Amino acid sequence: MAPDYTHPGLSDLARRARRRIPHFVWEYLDCGTGTDDARRRNRHALDRIRLVPRGLAGEVAPRLSCSLLGQTWSMPVGIAPIGMSGLVWPGAEEILARTARDAGIPYCLSTVATRTPEEIGSVAGPSGWFQLYPPRDAEIRRDILRRAAGAGFRVLVLTIDVPVMSRRERQRRAGIRVPPRLSPRILWQIAQRPAWALGTLRHGIPGLPLMASYAPAGGTSVARADHALRTAPDTAYLARLREEWAGPLVVKGVMDPDLAATLPDAGVDAVWVSNHGGRQLDAAPAAIEALPAVRRAVGPGFPVIFDSGVESAVDVLRALALGADFVMLGRAWHHAVAALGAEGARYLARMLAEDLAVNMVQMGAATLSDLPARRWRSGSDD
Ligand SMILES: Cc1cc2nc3c(=O)[nH]c(=O)nc-3n(C[C@H](O)[C@H](O)[C@H](O)COP(=O)(O)O)c2cc1C
Repeated sequence: MAPDYTHPGLSDLARRARRRIPHFVWEYLDCGTGTDDARRRNRHALDRIRLVPRGLAGEVAPRLSCSLLGQTWSMPVGIAPIGMSGLVWPGAEEILARTARDAGIPYCLSTVATRTPEEIGSVAGPSGWFQLYPPRDAEIRRDILRRAAGAGFRVLVLTIDVPVMSRRERQRRAGIRVPPRLSPRILWQIAQRPAWALGTLRHGIPGLPLMASYAPAGGTSVARADHALRTAPDTAYLARLREEWAGPLVVKGVMDPDLAATLPDAGVDAVWVSNHGGRQLDAAPAAIEALPAVRRAVGPGFPVIFDSGVESAVDVLRALALGADFVMLGRAWHHAVAALGAEGARYLARMLAEDLAVNMVQMGAATLSDLPARRWRSGSDD
């Protein structure tokens, strides 16, 4: 088990992760797009949000558990979908799905994960959500939905903020290919990271098995097939998806309040405010800047999930104070797993729960619904 004094914060895990995974993989995980402005903006905008401590509240025992989409969770925190998760650290999908189940939090498997829904569904159990990059072909879409439901995934998440891939200049500079092309430069980077290299040999070279199962026989690379399979969804597509998926449906990548306002009537069960961790539109506002207007647009009772730039329990509390019901982290879980393996994911889940509680006590907040009132209003922001 990881001693707390060695890795007291998430930045310690990120530092260790960077030393344990090859450079090109780090660039895949860490990059935004363009000049990484949106990624930086996420951080700076979160830093500007202040929460007011309150004394004389007596002994406060914060309640972290909450319900969302018909289930009760141990805390308002979950694991966002990361494509190629198993490239970042071998076995990451299994590790994170198991951790989520044990910790009572959601785990969202990506369409472009290195494991299939069938492989992960039983590991995630009631924690399993499935993220869909919308296939162009209706038969393939229906088959993926059948497979996800059959594997036990309860919640479907439609990602709408990748109508086309952004350029991801840092990935290009690092020479990233999917699956990895073993150039001398990449081989050298792998040779410097023996734990990652051995783990990858054991788990197999990461690919995109779900997409590969629909690639035309004898076709080109799976990555190219994946892009050929995906489309940019419109409202008619969303309506068809709503008819085809019986369980809760979430739309991920919502930043525009006018769009958000239409989603409850479209049969959507939750909106997920996100700028994809700053990876799609470099000029996008920070996701946390978009959150209050989206909350107003959907009204007070409608479930709002948030991600992008969250790096601590305090960031989670900031998002909850600005109107989110639930907060997801993407890169952070992968820093934890790459730094410390399976124990890293468990460690992060414990660290977040403890730190949420400690900070709620600082604010005299016994419940999550107390948090919006703890927001410091200087009069100049939002
Ligand atoms: C390496 C990487 C891969 C991602 N892959 C996906 C994906 O396959 N599907 C998806 O909906 N979002 C994907 N995202 C976006 C995340 O789900 C999430 O919105 C983002 O990581 C949140 O920001 P954070 O990493 O700062 O927590 C990816 C993000 C990263 C960093």
